[in-house]
Amino acid sequence: MTTTDGFGAQKVPRLSSLDARRADLYGGPNVAIPPKHLMASILSHDTAQEMQMATEQLSDISSEDGSPQVVTSLTEEKPSITADDFALAFDIDGVLMRGGEPIPEAAAALKYINGENPYGVRVPYIFVTNGGGKTEEERCLDLSRQLDLEVSPGQFICGHTPMREMAEKYHTVLVVGGEGEKCRIVAEGYGFKDVITPGDIIKTRHDTTPFRKLTDEEYKNSRARDLSLTTIEAIFVFADSRDWAGDQQIILDCLMSKEGHLGERSQTFNEGPPLFFSHNDVVWSTSHEHTRIGMGALRASLEALYKAVTGKELSTIAFGKPQIGTYQFAMRLLQQWRKDYHEINKPPSTVYFVGDTPESDIRGTNEFNEISDATWYSILVKTGVYQDGDTPVYPAKHTCNNVLDAVKFAMDREMSKKNKGGAIDDIDSNAGPLRN
Ligand code: G3P
Ligand code: MG
Repeated sequence: MTTTDGFGAQKVPRLSSLDARRADLYGGPNVAIPPKHLMASILSHDTAQEMQMATEQLSDISSEDGSPQVVTSLTEEKPSITADDFALAFDIDGVLMRGGEPIPEAAAALKYINGENPYGVRVPYIFVTNGGGKTEEERCLDLSRQLDLEVSPGQFICGHTPMREMAEKYHTVLVVGGEGEKCRIVAEGYGFKDVITPGDIIKTRHDTTPFRKLTDEEYKNSRARDLSLTTIEAIFVFADSRDWAGDQQIILDCLMSKEGHLGERSQTFNEGPPLFFSHNDVVWSTSHEHTRIGMGALRASLEALYKAVTGKELSTIAFGKPQIGTYQFAMRLLQQWRKDYHEINKPPSTVYFVGDTPESDIRGTNEFNEISDATWYSILVKTGVYQDGDTPVYPAKHTCNNVLDAVKFAMDREMSKKNKGGAIDDIDSNAGPLRN
């Protein structure tokens, strides 16, 4: 690899842009965070192996003769130079997307870091979202179409991604949330052997939820089973519940059960299975002008409900941002992505994380920055949960109007650093003191 002044020329395999099918991406990296309560370390060996497999698959797809292609900027006019000293990580909802539609500046921002900038520099990047509800491969295909660029599972982490590590520990699990059968499919893809959904329980016992009836489609897809022979070992909320009342009733039944047997109530109410959430965002950004309640709200509601019904405290576990383990994994994924896709075999000095939610994106970035060898630099945008005039409890290092301004800021800051031989005063940073 040729390098020039901190930048590496880019020779990478390439996945076709917008016509990639799900099958092209299927089998992408099995991104994983071990459950070590939770997010303490990374299974680097497994992850490296899985990433390698994914990369080989991408190589197979991208080049018929197996030889790498020179990737050019999106304009396809001249080969870009790739920055090897810094990288970007993007939150999705409220930064790039809102209510299923791209934020106006999103496509331009991604073009900018793909070489369409005054410096002619391309910057490696990954996506770290708390969202979920479909397979990583499907989500990447959606994003590729929505943002008009290639997104590989090798540069993508979603809220439930780490839950795949729990598949070896728990055999029979209740999986809650998302549309139709999608989360069952995700869980089975992660290797869970016996996945039960609320629909299965309602189909078996229609009076489980007095006011919720399954639609014909749900009834057809749901799997009746002998609940007296079923032991639910763990409950996973993979994505936002589409029916809070019914789902809460069923989760509550499990939590109050004796060791996951739905027909048997615990006398002590501390014998139920563990309850995991894929993230803890109380609110999130959609097309509505005000934030909407999310999975963290369901978590708070369930904890309050459990207390009200049993008198006992309920302890639950959440993955996702701002958990440090999510950032540790993000760093490992980024390094693997840089190595396999950009042929950069060293860690970045600085990672700019662009997010819209102070409590998850900014808090996690700032806290990870305290322990990471690299600088993790938080940039807050005003297009999502955070709005102009708010006082964030977790202040970012820098605040921008939108994601395009954010990438321009990061690029200018790096160029200024380079011109000053690595030093920078950060006079334009608008952060208050960072909280620990
Ligand atoms: O449900 C997803 C939402 O809570 C946050 O997604 O992309 O902003 O991390 P994101
Ligand atoms: Mg967000």
